[in-house]
Amino acid sequence: MHRKFENICVVGLGYIGLPTASLLATKGYKVHGVDVSPKVVETINRGNIHIVEPGLDILVKSAVQSGNLKAGLEPIESDVFIIAVPTPFKEGKRPDLSYVESATRVITSYLKPGNLVILESTSPVGTSDEVVAEIIKDSGFTIGEDVFVAHCPERVLPGRILIELVENDRVVGGVDELSTQLAIEFYETFVSGEVLAATAKTAEMVKLTENSFRDVNIAFANELSMICDREGISVWDVISLANRHPRVNILNPGPGVGGHCIAVDPWFIVDRSPEESQLIRTAREVNDRKPEWVIERVRNKAAKFKKPVIGCLGLAFKADVDDLRESPAVEIVERLIEEKLGDILICEPMIASHPHYDLSSLENVLKNSDILVLLVDHKPFKKIKPTMVSEKILIDTRGVIR
Ligand SMILES: NC(=O)c1ccc[n+]([C@@H]2O[C@H](COP(=O)([O-])OP(=O)(O)OC[C@H]3O[C@@H](n4cnc5c(N)ncnc54)[C@H](O)[C@@H]3O)[C@@H](O)[C@H]2O)c1
Repeated sequence: MHRKFENICVVGLGYIGLPTASLLATKGYKVHGVDVSPKVVETINRGNIHIVEPGLDILVKSAVQSGNLKAGLEPIESDVFIIAVPTPFKEGKRPDLSYVESATRVITSYLKPGNLVILESTSPVGTSDEVVAEIIKDSGFTIGEDVFVAHCPERVLPGRILIELVENDRVVGGVDELSTQLAIEFYETFVSGEVLAATAKTAEMVKLTENSFRDVNIAFANELSMICDREGISVWDVISLANRHPRVNILNPGPGVGGHCIAVDPWFIVDRSPEESQLIRTAREVNDRKPEWVIERVRNKAAKFKKPVIGCLGLAFKADVDDLRESPAVEIVERLIEEKLGDILICEPMIASHPHYDLSSLENVLKNSDILVLLVDHKPFKKIKPTMVSEKILIDTRGVIR
């Protein structure tokens, strides 16, 4: 296949950048990965990984062994630059674009005419035009003539990243038509899903819309869970029966919404359109209040004991991943410890150790807890039968033990 681009520089080697870099390397591209963390760079250059994702260890090892993937602290001259750095929010739920700005600034010294710069980080509408293209323009390039800029949001599901990187449809939006076209040609060399053309601003909004859609629908489920609790009925029964309606599809409630996408990205919309985004903001607030509601349930139950052993099952922000970022489970566990509601046991089977908490085995937690708080629907927890915990007070935020 004729390819315009051979050398790729991926800036930011985390959950998105590393799978992307290693996939491209195994597809025959010469890939140079860049990260600000020397530890990340060293780990990758040894053929190892610093994050948990099924199949990633094998992919990175073979990418590094083939000589097609190397990591470093600085970019090198390349044909395509992919930016996959964090886009968290800062105080006041305002987007923090400092990582995107500094990654873009760093690559400007390595840019040459004909280069394509792709922003993969989830970004507020306007970031590709007003931040990335603007910084490149300020360093002397003409956008759409000598350097091309596009946004291609990532919509992979942790746990299935390597499959979805290839199979998902992708939305590619350039800051001008030629940028869109070049970026589409690039993605079509390794994506089997459809690659759909948009403008940069539309592509940015598409990603924020997807996550806000999930957030609003989870907020509906979370609100139902609190209403059903007040009514003394099972929200799980209500949802599964309501979902038998041919046009109803309610999502599952939980302890809140975490992770570094759904709990963050809707704020990028609220920040730019505060008046118009009442529902999106309220959904965020409903989901953010849910951990406190769970803690209140634990408080009520704990008050019946002198010093209960409270077993917390899960810390991750969702099932079967090791990612604790913005996790409502962590927030709940931290507060239970702070409030000294009892002796806290924590089981998180997806990580080997935690910098602040001692972790216990599932067996130990099940045996010794007076109150069990199930926070994450990890696979091992799904094996717990109601009969195994019939002596315990159970607060099951995910409806797993039924
Ligand atoms: N993780 C997901 O499932 C997911 C899904 C879709 C979209 N996204 C988006 O992708 C982007 C990246 O997310 P992630 O989960 O890969 O983040 P991450 O924190 O796992 O990885 C980011 C990496 O970038 C590095 N970094 C930070 N600043 C840098 C800089 N200036 N130059 C080079 N490296 C730098 C960090 O050290 C880190 O290793 C975010 O915008 C996120 O919202 C993530």
